[in-house]
Amino acid sequence: MKPPPFFLFLLYLAVSAAATTTATPSSSSSSSSTLDPKQIQALESLNIPTARDPCIQPSPHNATVCDNSKPFRHLVSLHLSNCSADLSLSFTALKSLSSLHSLSFTNCHTYPIRFPSDLSLSLTSFACIRSLRRLTGVWLSRFVNLTDLTVSFTPVNTTGLYVILGNMHKLKKVTISHANLTGSLPRHLHQNLTHVDLSDNKLKGNIPTSFTLLEDLECLNLSSNELNGVIPTEFGDLTSLKNLSLSSNSLSGSIPDSISAIPGLVHVDLSNNQLNGTVPRFFSELKGLKVLKLENNELHGVLPFNASFIKRLDVFKVGGNSNLCYNHSVLSSKMKLGVAPCDKHGMPMSPPPSKDSSGDGDSDSDSADYDDDSADDTSEKKEQHHGPNKVVLGVAIGLSSIVFLIVFLILLSKWCG
Ligand SMILES: *[C@@H]1O[C@H](CO)[C@@H](O)[C@H](O)[C@H]1NC(C)=O
Ligand SMILES: *[C@@H]1O[C@H](CO)[C@@H](O)[C@H](O)[C@H]1NC(C)=O
Ligand SMILES: *[C@@H]1O[C@H](CO)[C@@H](O)[C@H](O)[C@H]1NC(C)=O
Ligand SMILES: *[C@@H]1O[C@H](CO)[C@@H](O)[C@H](O)[C@H]1NC(C)=O
Ligand SMILES: *[C@@H]1O[C@H](CO)[C@@H](O)[C@H](O)[C@H]1NC(C)=O
Ligand SMILES: *[C@@H]1O[C@H](CO)[C@@H](O)[C@H](O)[C@H]1NC(C)=O
Ligand SMILES: *[C@@H]1O[C@H](CO)[C@@H](O)[C@H](O)[C@H]1NC(C)=O
Ligand SMILES: *[C@@H]1O[C@H](CO)[C@@H](O)[C@H](O)[C@H]1NC(C)=O
Ligand SMILES: *[C@@H]1O[C@H](CO)[C@@H](O)[C@H](O)[C@H]1NC(C)=O
Ligand SMILES: *[C@@H]1O[C@H](CO)[C@@H](O)[C@H](O)[C@H]1NC(C)=O
Ligand SMILES: *[C@@H]1O[C@H](CO)[C@@H](O)[C@H](O)[C@H]1NC(C)=O
Repeated sequence: MKPPPFFLFLLYLAVSAAATTTATPSSSSSSSSTLDPKQIQALESLNIPTARDPCIQPSPHNATVCDNSKPFRHLVSLHLSNCSADLSLSFTALKSLSSLHSLSFTNCHTYPIRFPSDLSLSLTSFACIRSLRRLTGVWLSRFVNLTDLTVSFTPVNTTGLYVILGNMHKLKKVTISHANLTGSLPRHLHQNLTHVDLSDNKLKGNIPTSFTLLEDLECLNLSSNELNGVIPTEFGDLTSLKNLSLSSNSLSGSIPDSISAIPGLVHVDLSNNQLNGTVPRFFSELKGLKVLKLENNELHGVLPFNASFIKRLDVFKVGGNSNLCYNHSVLSSKMKLGVAPCDKHGMPMSPPPSKDSSGDGDSDSDSADYDDDSADDTSEKKEQHHGPNKVVLGVAIGLSSIVFLIVFLILLSKWCG
């Protein structure tokens, strides 16, 4: 199979000559080896310009990365993006690229073909973003050595996620998002997963308890699916979790208390579900929390947070929970939380605060929220405080005008009479 050394040497010279003539003439790169000619040919068939040796003159955006083997270097990473419309993948080209560990497509609307098994097995990272038109679970399932799988904005037709993930025993990070994926979440996942993003698909059913066994999981994004049922009570077992999004599903029940056992939470998004129960106080004890989104649920009761906690966060959203309210002796209406203040029974005072001026003791405590910061908000606060006074002033002016008019009319009638 191997060509005789002399032949190899000639080829080597030819390629380095080709490479050095087109590159800057002064470059004395002849000592470093060049890319395998078969791979140069493969790159050409993929419309990647090879006038300059891609190992010596790295292409922009790191599209190619080579190893240092001799006599020829081999590609270990290839990133194809913005491919021309006429690009088609050829089996022979792909076969000569089986040295690749990492392969990615971005905006390459070419047709997928069955990959040679050498290449399928050598890949540890595969990404397909807005590319390859349409994939199937079986097609993806052949990449059994992947640690990283990303498919995004590309439809994936499969009877279930287990078809894809079932044999990828080394997988650490998986993103299959915006892919119109159907079926339910797999009952079994590989223990070593650190990132799972299955957002914006059509996944149905509930979140299996087995998800809570993923001790190394740092990011879980199941947002924008059709998941229902409750958040498993064992969720707190995900002790490595940092980012969690379960937003825009149909999850119900309450937010499990066990989540308080996850110390490193940074980003929690449970918005747009049907979660009920109260807002747990433990969120304010999570030191690293930056984003807390609980809006558009059915949470009720008194919001258990103070202003210093809310100000510490980058994003805090609780609006759209009609039975949730805030304690106006703890939080100011200036914070614009999108929820009503509580009455003394911990129920929302029905209409927004400023209209409720006829109220008894409540309006007194409303004026008790004197946070004296941020100048730009004070105008609104003043407006609100002057609300009732304006009414009084209006009534006073109206009344005095009427009195004046009556007096004037009386005087007028006397003068005329
Ligand atoms: C290209 O790769 C090098 C080394 O791996 C890295 O330092 C650099 O940031 C990468 N550049 C781009 C644009 O990704
Ligand atoms: C691909 O095209 C997009 C916009 O059309 C551009 O922003 C991006 O930099 C391009 N990527 C490469 C690797 O050329
Ligand atoms: C990939 O997996 C196959 C079969 O599971 C194994 O035989 C092979 O050695 C692996 N290849 C690499 C490059 O790890
Ligand atoms: C998913 O399906 C919807 C409607 O069926 C379609 O509009 C959308 O383009 C599909 N998404 C992808 C990534 O194919
Ligand atoms: C998905 O694959 C099945 C079986 O191969 C086929 O019957 C079905 O039409 C495919 N669905 C789409 C949307 O392509
Ligand atoms: C998972 O990680 C542990 C420790 O990091 C390691 O010992 C084990 O081999 C890994 N399992 C797999 C299937 O990669
Ligand atoms: C989850 O995915 C959605 C859509 O892909 C994205 O907008 C959001 O930022 C992600 N959230 C987290 C916490 O990663
Ligand atoms: C919360 O929702 C669950 C399931 O929908 C229901 O069984 C429970 O009674 C509700 N609890 C409250 C306090 O509304
Ligand atoms: C996790 O959330 C933080 C804060 O919102 C964000 O900056 C970061 O990019 C997220 N990480 C991932 C992997 O989504
Ligand atoms: C606000 O709440 C946090 C957590 O519950 C607490 O540690 C802190 O002392 C409170 N701050 C004030 C000003 O009450
Ligand atoms: C509001 O907070 C005050 C002071 O902390 C407390 O006395 C009162 O009971 C709280 N009201 C409600 C409805 O929780």
